[in-house]
Amino acid sequence: MLNQKQAEGTAIPFSFTSTEFLSKPYPFYDKLRSVHPICWGSLLKNPGWYVTGYDEVLMILKDSRFKNRIPLPQSTKKYEELKNIQNDMVLFKNQPDHMRLRRLISNGFTSNAVEYFRPYIREAVLDLLDCIKKRNRVDLVSEYAFPLASLIIANILGVPAEERKQFKELAASLIQTVDFTRSREGLRTGNDSMIKASAYFNKLIEMRVLNPKDDLITLLSKEVTDGGKLTREELLSTCILLVIAGHETTVNLISNSILTLLQHPEQLIKLKEEPELINVAVEEFLRYESPTQMTARIASDDIELEQTTIKKGEHVYLFLGAANRDPNKFNHPHLLDITRNPNPHLAFGYGPHFCLGASLARIEAQVAIQELLQQLPNFRLATDDWQWRKLIGFRSLKELYIVFD
Ligand code: HEM
Repeated sequence: MLNQKQAEGTAIPFSFTSTEFLSKPYPFYDKLRSVHPICWGSLLKNPGWYVTGYDEVLMILKDSRFKNRIPLPQSTKKYEELKNIQNDMVLFKNQPDHMRLRRLISNGFTSNAVEYFRPYIREAVLDLLDCIKKRNRVDLVSEYAFPLASLIIANILGVPAEERKQFKELAASLIQTVDFTRSREGLRTGNDSMIKASAYFNKLIEMRVLNPKDDLITLLSKEVTDGGKLTREELLSTCILLVIAGHETTVNLISNSILTLLQHPEQLIKLKEEPELINVAVEEFLRYESPTQMTARIASDDIELEQTTIKKGEHVYLFLGAANRDPNKFNHPHLLDITRNPNPHLAFGYGPHFCLGASLARIEAQVAIQELLQQLPNFRLATDDWQWRKLIGFRSLKELYIVFD
């Protein structure tokens, strides 16, 4: 049986916020996994178990003894708004509240419900490309992926188009509060953003109650009745969670996929020649540069796992990006193969908290990549100097400039 000291993974010298780690985390994940797929580390604010093996991550995601909870201490008084809103998010709930909330929200995100959006997504993509084609140099993050993701989630929720602009800053400020790099300053601005977001959505919810429309806020607000299935606070938290999830991760999937393709010209040519590969290719992009790199749980009991005892109350950090590059699960895991099939990656998580927006994110990425390849056949990187945002849980480009003739 390994004890904590024997499994000490942080004997490997690295920092989660170093440029080296941010630009290429995979060699570090490999080193950690080679010490042990579940090893003890103290590089994050709360020490805990760093899980980098595929089977181990999967086992924990399936095991209800590992609980979700908000990343902030419950005792905090400083970030009250942030804490209260996060406490009511489905992402951080445990059973039975989790299932109750998830059932309600998932009505808006079934494969059929989001397939309905495919023509609208294509139309939005073509409009964006029409504007882009008038130029010869653009940042695909801020001028393509972001406006697309923003338009779609705002449409699903029922946010009027002219009010969407505020979400860019909001989503960026709130993502910091759930990432393990969060600083006091980040939490302070996140708390302020949460106050603004709450005021905005409270008003919008009231308007939809008085004047129902064909959108998700109207649908969910019908469940908020005395003794109903959803509390008013949960509805507010759901709106804010969907704004963050809908903006941050999908933008990263689209941008990371395009960068990955440009770094693998032979795969880019293959996808141009065989566009029908797009669905399989998007799964490989999700595996290869997973937009969500890490999630966390807390042990509700002493739990024995793979010769390791995880004690009650200990933190467990699940490196999805590492699991998706585990050689015990994937042949040549560091090789990009857009025909890889089957591809049982964990980019959307697994089990009870499996991503509710997976179908939507997949469609957005498939359409955005396919149309870009068709409409701008000779696009290329404008510079080799791109940078990743300082986030551990998310793989997110600051910008991605391309040029084309
Ligand atoms: C490429 C894009 C996306 C990725 C990689 C992604 C990834 C994930 C992951 C890994 C989880 C599970 C977290 C955990 O178990 O701790 C999750 C949960 C969730 N995602 Fe996504 N997501 C994406 C897009 C979206 C979109 C577009 C939406 C909605 C508009 C969304 C909504 C949610 C929600 C509501 C949950 C919580 C589900 C629950 O707790 O039951 N996601 N996502």
